[in-house]
Amino acid sequence: MLPPPRPTPSGSTHPDDAIRSTDDDAAASRLSAVSLGYLDDPFVSLLYRPQRIGRDSSAAHKPPLINVGTHHRTAALDAVVDSFLRASASSPQSAQIVSLGAGSDTRFWRLAARNDVRLGKYVEVDFPHLTSVKAQRIAKSKVLVAALGQGEPVGTGAIVPPAKPYKVGHGGASLTSERYALLPIDLRTPGALDQIGALLDPDAPTLVISECVFCYMEPEASRDVLAWFGSRFENVASVVYEMCGLNDAFGAVMKRNLAARNLSLPGAVPFPTPQSQAERFLDPRLGEGVFTKSGAKRLWEIRSDVVSDAERARISKLEFLDEIEELRLVLSHYVVAWGSKGPLLDGVGL
Ligand SMILES: C[S@@+](CC[C@H](N)C(=O)[O-])C[C@H]1O[C@@H](n2cnc3c(N)ncnc32)[C@H](O)[C@@H]1O
Repeated sequence: MLPPPRPTPSGSTHPDDAIRSTDDDAAASRLSAVSLGYLDDPFVSLLYRPQRIGRDSSAAHKPPLINVGTHHRTAALDAVVDSFLRASASSPQSAQIVSLGAGSDTRFWRLAARNDVRLGKYVEVDFPHLTSVKAQRIAKSKVLVAALGQGEPVGTGAIVPPAKPYKVGHGGASLTSERYALLPIDLRTPGALDQIGALLDPDAPTLVISECVFCYMEPEASRDVLAWFGSRFENVASVVYEMCGLNDAFGAVMKRNLAARNLSLPGAVPFPTPQSQAERFLDPRLGEGVFTKSGAKRLWEIRSDVVSDAERARISKLEFLDEIEELRLVLSHYVVAWGSKGPLLDGVGL
């Protein structure tokens, strides 16, 4: 658990501090899952450093239920991204991905490590407080920088990356390169999304990822974001990872715990079920035909439908977890939902 938001020198706290601190939760969970062998991700420790590191590294480990949830959430989002890249393969344009509220996410580097030629541009956005730190961490890491430029082939067939394949701007809060951009944007600011649009090809297949972000925004604000992307691109898909079922007893505890940290979930309450999350993409208030197909699955269904038997068996050996009913309860309160438009991306989803 994180401490409450720190007061600024003037003694006040910004209402968004608590929202920004949620990246620490996501990144710390990822680090825990990686260090225990649930996930393979060499980039996590390059992009995230826990605020307090004790001598005992097990102090950074999350409970098994959280590690399993992080594994399944990552597997689900990875599966949607893969289905998007597969569907984009027949487009003459390279696929492009936008990650909203990306925080310390590592997905761009995991994809770059696969040398997937179908992926063109990858754009991440978050508040400047987070993008500044991320831009610094990227610039300081040879491993992270190496993924930013395409590099030049030399006579031996080897690829030599350019010396400094990126530019830093916005007083250190943005970092842009040929393949990757990190932009300081508050998604609630009218017109802010045009900065993202300026970097993207309107004709290219586009995937918009929003992983645990819309729940912290008013539903009208996330609707505007989805409407903007859905109406700007011909072939577009979007995937969201969100909490659901907050109106039951378990949900009440979740809300109470978050409220103790000054966090509320205005964007989760109106979408209590997977079906309502799927329907958000078809909401007529987005505009006509902005998205034309959608679906959703709870993390509990993803456990059996997306995670393979072999992978489930593998992770079941990592830690002792006998509370299967508790696992079902937790995983049933998280949902992955997706929407798409255009025949090219018809099959994107789980
Ligand atoms: C729970 S974290 C998730 C981070 C990342 N998507 C992941 O799954 O690892 C939520 C992120 O959304 C960002 N965020 C929330 N509201 C935002 C807004 N209005 N504009 C930009 N970023 C926002 C937060 O700063 C934070 O980094």
